[in-house]
Amino acid sequence: MENRSLVTIANHSREKIEYLIQMASAFEKNPNRRLLEGKVVATLFFEPSTRTRLSFETAANRLGARVIGFADPKVTSGTKGETLKDTIMMVSNYADLIVMRHYLEGAAQYASEVAPVPIVNAGDGANQHPSQTMLDLYTIYQTQGHLDNLDIYLVGDLKYGRTVHSLLMAMRHFNPTFHFIAPEELAMPTVYKKYCNDNGIRYVEHTDFDAETISGADILYMTRVQKERFADLDEYEKVKDRYLLKLNMLSKARSNMKILHPLPRVNEIEYSIDDTPYAYYFQQARNGLYAREALICDVLGITLEDILKN
Ligand code: CP
Repeated sequence: MENRSLVTIANHSREKIEYLIQMASAFEKNPNRRLLEGKVVATLFFEPSTRTRLSFETAANRLGARVIGFADPKVTSGTKGETLKDTIMMVSNYADLIVMRHYLEGAAQYASEVAPVPIVNAGDGANQHPSQTMLDLYTIYQTQGHLDNLDIYLVGDLKYGRTVHSLLMAMRHFNPTFHFIAPEELAMPTVYKKYCNDNGIRYVEHTDFDAETISGADILYMTRVQKERFADLDEYEKVKDRYLLKLNMLSKARSNMKILHPLPRVNEIEYSIDDTPYAYYFQQARNGLYAREALICDVLGITLEDILKN
């Protein structure tokens, strides 16, 4: 049987991304479509989450499915030594789809190889976060009217930030120019810069973060420094407040520029920016519901035509 799991968005074609955007748009018009009556969706979160878990669960509920799962692995038999493989095999007995967040890079790929039901990667370590990328793409499309030829500035923790890794891979179809703004300690890893080179994606690296540096942005994508990925917390302390977006740094921004952030925000965006027309991160998070409804349907073989009929 075809493995319909979503582990990475890197393999999705331009057409597939555009199709999923159409699906998300249909769900934005009407999120309540009971296409999954009788289905069970499991959400297994081995790492903390607010948006991803709750929006996946809301998506499943609005589609008419039932939801099982856990938000804290401490309440599971993993604490007694049960392996990830056995956990996945057990949950596959109960659910039609497993949404999983795990702290280990590659865990979603592994789960997709052993599970008899589709796996949706809700974030695996510092590796990938494809459902976040789908909502980011939907949001970029919504704010810019298209995805082509955009200047996208990625700011902050580009080393451990899985959302930026997924986003740059998905954008390869759309001729972007990326600007990577990070302290040297948190620079975009070589593997992703090689990916850009291999796929003809232009990028420029910066360490300065000021009004001039960001004046050419269509999308300013802020990220949190991922404290949980640091082995040495002294290293985290050195970089955690390095890139704070301040209101006066928007003085030269393009009129179409939107600020995105996967959230949670810690100290990356001044609260005074929330009330400006540039801020779009809360709408971005809301789009997570529509994008995740689209992804759940897609991995379960429900088409755009099915959605529009309901
Ligand atoms: N953006 C994101 O993944 O948020 P959560 O960690 O709250 O799910």
